[in-house]
Amino acid sequence: MEVQTHSGDTTSVVAVASIADVPPGKYKNFELELDGFRQHGVLINYHGDFHAYLNVCPHAGIPLDTVDKGIFNADGSYLICRKHWALFQPETGICVSGPCPIAPLSKLVVHVENEMIYVSPKN
Ligand code: FES
Repeated sequence: MEVQTHSGDTTSVVAVASIADVPPGKYKNFELELDGFRQHGVLINYHGDFHAYLNVCPHAGIPLDTVDKGIFNADGSYLICRKHWALFQPETGICVSGPCPIAPLSKLVVHVENEMIYVSPKN
């Protein structure tokens, strides 16, 4: 689906996907405006709950996912950065293993309305 952005002064709300587009264990990349800059985000469905983060590893500032291996680890229990294998809790973004143990992912706000999933920066 097309990404629709409704920009304000410093924040944006992005219609990322319909609920049916992101079943459990899947994810979707998107872009949003944050403090006047375009940022990459990722929406995940973890056991039926939606969470969203900036798609930026706190270790080296690169995207977590790869096209061929996705963003979940092998058993789907953690988000994984493929560069140096950091693991993050899907519900919180907290790093539990790897080179960034105290640096969490930047969590975004998820809002579901009329079968659509919207994401915005934290206020
Ligand atoms: S860049 Fe992600 S763990 Fe190093």
